[in-house]
Amino acid sequence: MMAGNVFGEFFRVTTFGESHGPVIGVVIDGLQPNLEIDLTEIQKELSRRRPGQSSVTTQRKESDKVQVVSGIFEGKTTGTPLCMLIKNQDTRPQDYNNLKEIFRPGHAGYTFLKKYGIYDYRGGGRSSGRETASRVAAGAVAKQILKSRNIKVLAYTKKIGSIEIEKFNENEIEKNIVRCPDKDVAVKMIDLIESVKKERDSVGGIIEIKVMGLAPGFGEPVFDKLEADLSKALMSIGAVKGVEVGSGFNSAEMLGSECNDQFQINPETKAIETITNHSGGIQGGISNGAEIILRIAVKPTSSISKKQKSVRTNGSEEVEFIIEGRHDPCICPRIVPVAEAMVALVLIDHILMQERIISGKEHLDEIRRKLDLIDQQTLLLISERENLVKDVSKLKKENGFKIYDNEREKDVTENWLNAADELQLDGVFVENLKNLILERSKLIQSQE
Ligand SMILES: Cc1cc2nc3c(=O)[nH]c(=O)nc-3n(C[C@H](O)[C@H](O)[C@H](O)COP(=O)(O)O)c2cc1C
Repeated sequence: MMAGNVFGEFFRVTTFGESHGPVIGVVIDGLQPNLEIDLTEIQKELSRRRPGQSSVTTQRKESDKVQVVSGIFEGKTTGTPLCMLIKNQDTRPQDYNNLKEIFRPGHAGYTFLKKYGIYDYRGGGRSSGRETASRVAAGAVAKQILKSRNIKVLAYTKKIGSIEIEKFNENEIEKNIVRCPDKDVAVKMIDLIESVKKERDSVGGIIEIKVMGLAPGFGEPVFDKLEADLSKALMSIGAVKGVEVGSGFNSAEMLGSECNDQFQINPETKAIETITNHSGGIQGGISNGAEIILRIAVKPTSSISKKQKSVRTNGSEEVEFIIEGRHDPCICPRIVPVAEAMVALVLIDHILMQERIISGKEHLDEIRRKLDLIDQQTLLLISERENLVKDVSKLKKENGFKIYDNEREKDVTENWLNAADELQLDGVFVENLKNLILERSKLIQSQE
């Protein structure tokens, strides 16, 4: 069995399929019923990740049309597993024929073969970037739920090679093929990618992801800290080799006085907020209400058509070879929607987790209210009992009956213990309680 295909605790996502199989897909379990889901939004997200979008992405032509096969009825979730399928259309397994017996550097072939003893070499099989289409489909559902709560996840290319953005304009991101918020720098990035492509090489970069509108309080100490879950989610994307939160690695060079996010009261909203945001919106593993800021390092695409050295899969000889086929000279623009999807999946999971805590707290309050009522009723009954004891005492005196009646006491003790037995209460505890109450009765009778 291949574990590790399921993500999330409450918003549970399972992806399946390989690059060159007939279909890939995803099942989401844990979706609330009656949520309105816009399928065109899912399709839009898939188109952002789709191959063949531009000269800087792979020329594999996939329409990535999503087919919902379960879980949605008349535009709304039914609460049952939501299953989405995406057909693989433009597969060319023959491109991989000469690679069948050679380990491709930077790819998962060697490690998969060592682990499972079998590997679908066609397009990287399960380790292919193609699998991320399933994540984007699931993320698109999560994003719609987040949007209804005014939470927005936004990713963009911050750096390609050593070319970095100098300004930020959100409106520019989807207008250029590298998904860069600085339109002038985007031109330079594209030039760089085109030039490495001509050299039959590839280039990596940095994607920045921001979350706006997340209230304080989301994240679970200690192993499920928000940044821990976000890092895992982002590191699970192929070709991602590093994650930063807030000032990240730069904070190692800062002084405490520089790095601490000091607090202030917002003059308009009167809400508590931090003046700076070096922590990237997360403190102690829990969101603090500031923007969540994350960055991922994307390595240069492994498949390059430059001559490379490798070894035959049977270990018989070293070889020099060239990778044919269609590959992204830079994966960054296509990782942008995947990163957004993974962050959205983590957030929705933590939101559902938090709702359970809140409802757990409400449950606790409810039980405590009942306990308080029982305590009050117990005291009321004790008070009623004491009044009756006083009446008994008066009657005994008026009629000259003896105060202490051993037979009666024996009966009372027996009644208590029988009842305790029937109710499965602790015998010693009931005996002690009975003694306390009978002692009290005797005291009252002696005083009357
Ligand atoms: C959207 C996306 C597209 C990708 N496209 C390619 C590609 O065309 N060629 C390639 O060699 N790797 C591609 N990759 C990366 C490989 O999947 C990845 O490098 C490989 O599985 C090895 O895993 P690792 O880099 O995480 O160690 C892509 C990844 C993603 C997320």
